[in-house]
Amino acid sequence: MPLEPVQSVASKVVAGRSAYILLHNTSEVVTADLEGREVLRHQRGALVFRDGRVLEVGSALELSRRHAEARPLNANGRLVTPGLVDCHAHMIFAGHRAGEFQRRLRGEDYGAIAASGGGIRETVRATVAAHPDGLEKSLANRLERWRANGCTTVEVKSGYGLAPDAEVRLLELIRGGAQRVPARVHRTALLLHAVPEEYRDRRDRLIQELCDVTLPDIRRRDLASAVDVFCDDLGFDLGECRRVLSSARELGFAVKLHAEQTSRTGGAMLAAELKACSADHLECATEEDWRALAEAEVVGVLLPAAALTLGKSLPEAAMLRRAGARVAIATDFNPGTAPAQSLLECAALASRLCGFGAEEILLAITWNAARALRVESEIGHLNPGACADAVVWECERLEELPYWMPAVRPDCVMMRGSDLALPTVERRVWP
Ligand code: NIG
Ligand code: FE
Repeated sequence: MPLEPVQSVASKVVAGRSAYILLHNTSEVVTADLEGREVLRHQRGALVFRDGRVLEVGSALELSRRHAEARPLNANGRLVTPGLVDCHAHMIFAGHRAGEFQRRLRGEDYGAIAASGGGIRETVRATVAAHPDGLEKSLANRLERWRANGCTTVEVKSGYGLAPDAEVRLLELIRGGAQRVPARVHRTALLLHAVPEEYRDRRDRLIQELCDVTLPDIRRRDLASAVDVFCDDLGFDLGECRRVLSSARELGFAVKLHAEQTSRTGGAMLAAELKACSADHLECATEEDWRALAEAEVVGVLLPAAALTLGKSLPEAAMLRRAGARVAIATDFNPGTAPAQSLLECAALASRLCGFGAEEILLAITWNAARALRVESEIGHLNPGACADAVVWECERLEELPYWMPAVRPDCVMMRGSDLALPTVERRVWP
């Protein structure tokens, strides 16, 4: 199925500035290869962008000779990577849950807070009460912050509406917010997150309505390209998730799951069975689960901020290598378990907590994350033909990316070959 962002971002970028560019004087240009298996490192390399795509990557000497007509852009001896991809983010919501965070620090349980009407439901109340324009603007501001942190492609999930109509409304607002700023946004309908009040004793009706009415409506109006569920003792059971995701798949959606987060309920195996694009969280997954995901070519998405916040452990890199897993890392940005606003910071945590090397980290936040969104043919790497989304970092070596904390900052973030002005991370573009 064609995905929205690659075209839609074109209209937001000043076309004239992106025509033909030679990015030179780098310390190195690093990118995944086409299959996302290896990291290619072009020492003092260069990149040629033409009409928003990568034309060539390689030796600076050779490329500057062959592309003497291109407009030169000096990387000032710094590292260049593909634009980062955050493949799991709940970016549209109102308010925060700093109070709940304090309660959990005092020992209260995430599940118990949710069961007493707090947690996700607290954010749903704030979000439903918020002005739609305010939700769009706060999403646009967040997307700009992500871009300032080096992310050019971001997944944005609904999920804080709960009732089917409210979820559809959020997807409309995600579309509106994304149109305000230069970002490639992938809309995901998170349709099973918590049971809406009015369906408390009619869970079956909820599932039926989602399958018969909501999913076809979302499909018809192209409001999302993927469907997500929270498969967990605190969310929805395997049977409920299977029904919604199977319907979604039949309608042509990519499917994904919040799986094995607070307990092991079989979500990872369901992801493998359904050939989901990703299974996310996996704090309680076993090596057998990871093997099944690898076998089915499902990306396993690690969310270190959520794991840390809820006191869960992350898998060891050695086990993941043994299992042949394809791993992405994402922020899981949300007000409950992961108020994490920098993907690179999350990657630096995962590097330490799991034992990933710098090249594995790069794959996890570029090619593998793009694969989790099914856009790896043109996003998440800098091979010829790919979208010209690239970051010049304020450092020289790839090894510095997971090393510095707070994370290294971008000098320049290019989208479709255009060097757009970056907001400072603190600045809001919308009042
Ligand atoms: O990815 N666990 C499910 N969903 C979110 C948290 C939602 C919340 O607490 O608001 C997650 O961790
Ligand atoms: Fe999540």
